Amino acid sequence: MNLIVAVAKDYAIGKDNKLLFSLPSDMKYFKEKTLNKVVVMGEKTYLSLPKRPLINRINIVLSDNKNFAPEGAIVVNNLDELFSQLKKYNDDDIFVCGGASVYNLLMEYCHLAYVTIVDKIVPADTYIIDPIKKGFVLRETSQTFEENGLKFTFNIFENKKSKEY
Ligand SMILES: NC(=O)c1ccc[n+]([C@@H]2O[C@H](COP(=O)([O-])OP(=O)(O)OC[C@H]3O[C@@H](n4cnc5c(N)ncnc54)[C@H](OP(=O)(O)O)[C@@H]3O)[C@@H](O)[C@H]2O)c1
Repeated sequence: MNLIVAVAKDYAIGKDNKLLFSLPSDMKYFKEKTLNKVVVMGEKTYLSLPKRPLINRINIVLSDNKNFAPEGAIVVNNLDELFSQLKKYNDDDIFVCGGASVYNLLMEYCHLAYVTIVDKIVPADTYIIDPIKKGFVLRETSQTFEENGLKFTFNIFENKKSKEY
């Protein structure tokens, strides 16, 4: 599986259950990478989506709540249930897309991390682990783009020793 995330320079990803930045080209990139694929997310991230489920994608949501049954999404209550669901799909087609608890839980199982890095530090309450600290290496980095006054790059990190599930 892979993960896709947008981070501030200090690996912050959210505040008050919202994203930190509004970057239309990053949204476009997210859509291009995940369309017709499988997206895995936590309940909080799912509920924070302006339109849910994410259309034309298989939405899998991790939740402890046995009564949580949103239309159009597959809910799994623990890691074992998640992994048995994921066996149905091609591993390269699976994208972990938040939030912090789910990124940090599944990072070691991810082969590629698509990380948009915004060159700024802003107030935040939710952070992910720097993939480098988990054994990832930077494989590709884009030129620097600028949008809404924010400078950012698209990066692909690779974990050659991703864990089997
Ligand atoms: N920058 C980005 O690219 C990006 C992307 C996505 C999200 N975000 C941000 O991330 C923040 C949300 O992250 P978060 O860590 O607070 O929430 P989250 O990971 O989206 O969701 C947390 C919830 O997922 C469920 N969950 C997680 N692991 C589970 C497990 N092993 N078994 C069962 N259920 C499990 C739990 O549900 P229960 O409540 O039922 O226990 C938990 O409360 C928001 O600010 C959001 O905007 C940023």
